[in-house]
Amino acid sequence: MSDAAPTNASELAGIPIIPAVDQHHVKPNAPVIGKVHATYLCTTSRKAAGFVRHIEIDVSGTALENAWHAGQSFGVIPPGTQSNGNPHKLRLYSIAAPTGGETGDGTIITTTVKRVVDEHWDTHKLLEGVCSNYLCDLNVGDEVTLTGPVGKRFLLPENPADHDYIFIATGTGIAPFRSMIMDLIKLGMPSRTALLMGVPYESDLLYDQTLTGWAKEYEHFSYHTAVSRHLTSNQTKKLYVQDRLSENFDQFGPMLASERTLLYICGIAGMELGVFQILARLLEPEQLAQYLHLDPEIANDIDNWERRMIPKKIKKTKRVFLEVY
Ligand code: A2P
Repeated sequence: MSDAAPTNASELAGIPIIPAVDQHHVKPNAPVIGKVHATYLCTTSRKAAGFVRHIEIDVSGTALENAWHAGQSFGVIPPGTQSNGNPHKLRLYSIAAPTGGETGDGTIITTTVKRVVDEHWDTHKLLEGVCSNYLCDLNVGDEVTLTGPVGKRFLLPENPADHDYIFIATGTGIAPFRSMIMDLIKLGMPSRTALLMGVPYESDLLYDQTLTGWAKEYEHFSYHTAVSRHLTSNQTKKLYVQDRLSENFDQFGPMLASERTLLYICGIAGMELGVFQILARLLEPEQLAQYLHLDPEIANDIDNWERRMIPKKIKKTKRVFLEVY
């Protein structure tokens, strides 16, 4: 998807300046070795539908030390070989630690990893994700081969306090937002910041206690959940993050109308369409234009939008940041 629609400066206020950050300090042909520093389940209960781990890795003394910004990813090269005998390729994981790491001295990088367990469609034998299960199996002290960091757009702007933020996540899409919120907290949480988090069941909420605690502690930070599979008796359809955006529009409407607000979306592919449809339904055309440029052909046919239209017919402006997978 192209980065942004062509815009003219007078039409779009509040355009953020994204800092030019370094990438690829550690290249795949010369990876570094980190050591697992901590690993724990970060779902609210062991009975969660998925197993998601918060994994901290000590990179002290390597070229990754102090080398990342909130919102970037790092690479992991799992051991072993592919079926063709070649070494496994690296996989990218979103960094969940703030800039400066968990301890502030640049040594502890973190990610949020979900185990991948599935069936081969043809043989119905167990299919295990190569790298995520490897990472989740690691114990404190185990070594892991790393590269990175990677990413130059999904970042907080140069002057974070100049903006407000709506962060929309599903599942492990929370990782970069944990990282960005911690950066904002380091600055004294100067911005109105709303986090919307979507998960299948309540037990799958990630870092829930921490996020609830931050919402209590920081006046400017609010935390909203969308639990999709917990249907109440008067509910006929699943509640997704975009539905939460719509239900809480008394709060999100004024935020979206503000020139300060930036919208970040991270998680399941497909959610961007739902979020864009809700924005198109609820915002006045001039407000919508701050976030999306619509091909006039589709502007009045929101219910029939499809994801494949996004690159050509629904272009996001520089106030929208998207990372879906
Ligand atoms: P569901 O799977 O009930 O349809 P996880 O990464 O832990 O699986 O969570 C992803 C969450 O995103 C789930 O609650 C899932 O709901 C939800 N989801 C699935 N499709 C969409 C979509 N198009 N827009 C927003 N949320 C979605």
